[in-house]
Amino acid sequence: MPSRPDRRLPSDRLLTVLTCPLCPSGLAPADGALRCADRHSFDIARHGYVSLLTGRRRAASADSADMVRSRAAFLRAGHYDPLARALAGLAAELAPPDATVLDAGSGTGHYLATVLDALPGAMGLGLDSSAPALRAAARAHARGEAVGWDVWQPWPVRTGCADLVLNVFAPRNGPEFHRVLGPHGALLVVTPTDRHLGELRPSLGLLAVDPRKEERLSRTLAAHFRPAHTEPLEYAMSLTPEDVTGLVTMSPAAHHVCPAELRRRVGELPAPVRVTASFVVSVYRPKGR
Ligand SMILES: C[S@@+](CC[C@H](N)C(=O)[O-])C[C@H]1O[C@@H](n2cnc3c(N)ncnc32)[C@H](O)[C@@H]1O
Ligand SMILES: [Zn+2]
Repeated sequence: MPSRPDRRLPSDRLLTVLTCPLCPSGLAPADGALRCADRHSFDIARHGYVSLLTGRRRAASADSADMVRSRAAFLRAGHYDPLARALAGLAAELAPPDATVLDAGSGTGHYLATVLDALPGAMGLGLDSSAPALRAAARAHARGEAVGWDVWQPWPVRTGCADLVLNVFAPRNGPEFHRVLGPHGALLVVTPTDRHLGELRPSLGLLAVDPRKEERLSRTLAAHFRPAHTEPLEYAMSLTPEDVTGLVTMSPAAHHVCPAELRRRVGELPAPVRVTASFVVSVYRPKGR
């Protein structure tokens, strides 16, 4: 994936999409920051992302540096590549090659980068509240941008600016997904099924996935979206003990075992560890368009 040499300058295209989070103005570069007409100013981090989170708007939930490191390593090892390929294939069907793609809770920018590879003229913007995740996302793709934001708040982006919104294992803000999508836009959501990582759940103390998660997702989005298509994706992964430790560390919401106990339990698993990956990829279209 191509990366951009000087990440400190936001692309012109990003500036057509972003709005000031404190007033209705747009943002323009000024002295290493982005500034609006009312002089609200947001530093551009030397790692190439801009955080628009200020004061009360800071998100309560954000991945720690440890979680981001584990996630980056696990994704780099390719265990979720079939999912990335499925997202890229759907993105190419759903969005024009020069699409604007927003990723809510983009993490390291891994899936956004794969989708951008499938859309040769597209610009991607990942929103996340975790600084270590934003640092990784800012480097993930030459046409990928990263902005610090709490996706539960109204987004600092223009109404109707997006062709595609991605939401992969991350918080869902249905009203904002709907507001930012243009008339022909689509929402791509990934959820785990109750079989996902099933073999690890009893031995490593992972919490079970609610079997009605998919149904709950549709209900959450029902006011603003109609389901257009769902694609199940299930395959077996062959994992090293390090992969398993990384997999658990990258999602602490799903486990409640301390690191030493986790290492002990992982050490008892027969290597390589055969683990099921099981997802549903859902396409939604905005209602009333
Ligand atoms: C399970 S990770 C998934 C990351 C990425 N989509 C992936 O699948 O690789 C969830 C991500 O959502 C982010 N996140 C959690 N709550 C958030 C919020 N309120 N606003 C923005 N990002 C949030 C976390 O920092 C984390 O990067
Ligand atoms: Zn402003």
